Amino acid sequence: MDLKKYELPNLPYSLDALEPYISKDIMDVHYNGHHKAYVNGANATIDKINSIVKGETKGYDLAGVVRNLVFNVNGHKLHSLFWRAMAPSGKGGGKPGGILGDMIEKQYGSFDTFKQLFTDSMKSLTGTGWTVLLFDKETGRLEISTIENHFINHIAELPIVQIVDEFEHAYYLQYKNNRNAYIDAWWNVVNWDFSEEVLKRYL
Ligand SMILES: [Fe+2]
Repeated sequence: MDLKKYELPNLPYSLDALEPYISKDIMDVHYNGHHKAYVNGANATIDKINSIVKGETKGYDLAGVVRNLVFNVNGHKLHSLFWRAMAPSGKGGGKPGGILGDMIEKQYGSFDTFKQLFTDSMKSLTGTGWTVLLFDKETGRLEISTIENHFINHIAELPIVQIVDEFEHAYYLQYKNNRNAYIDAWWNVVNWDFSEEVLKRYL
């Protein structure tokens, strides 16, 4: 099998599709700037590992190289999920139906309780990272969790059912230091069809 490089995936909508909740300017910098940088960083790190393997690079810091790889690969993969987990204005938001809707009712009692807990988790995240909704097939439970940076605190093997980027680059151009306003706006573009698709794959 041929080895491949990482690639920036196509956005599933136009850069201005999430307006007014997430501006075109943010999407342009976020997708074409930050996400692209993670893709380039992941590929550059792989090139470096290849050159180490061939003996072309001496005096390397392997722990640092691996840290770079994890940071950039996870940055790329989490952003790839994040774009798909949102839907254009008018098509996203609301309450999930289907499997996720039933699971939320069963586990949290109501969507409103779940929404409050997920919002609390997003608003209480300190520093840089993501809030995610995970599914554990072993228990059948949903878990609200956070991933610090791009990789710390992430539970292995649990698929991401929903995801919110809370790095400053995700909101600062539009919301400045009012992260809570960005979080409240995000609920208008959440894509529950994405969540349903993930759950169907893992159930
Ligand atoms: Fe981001």
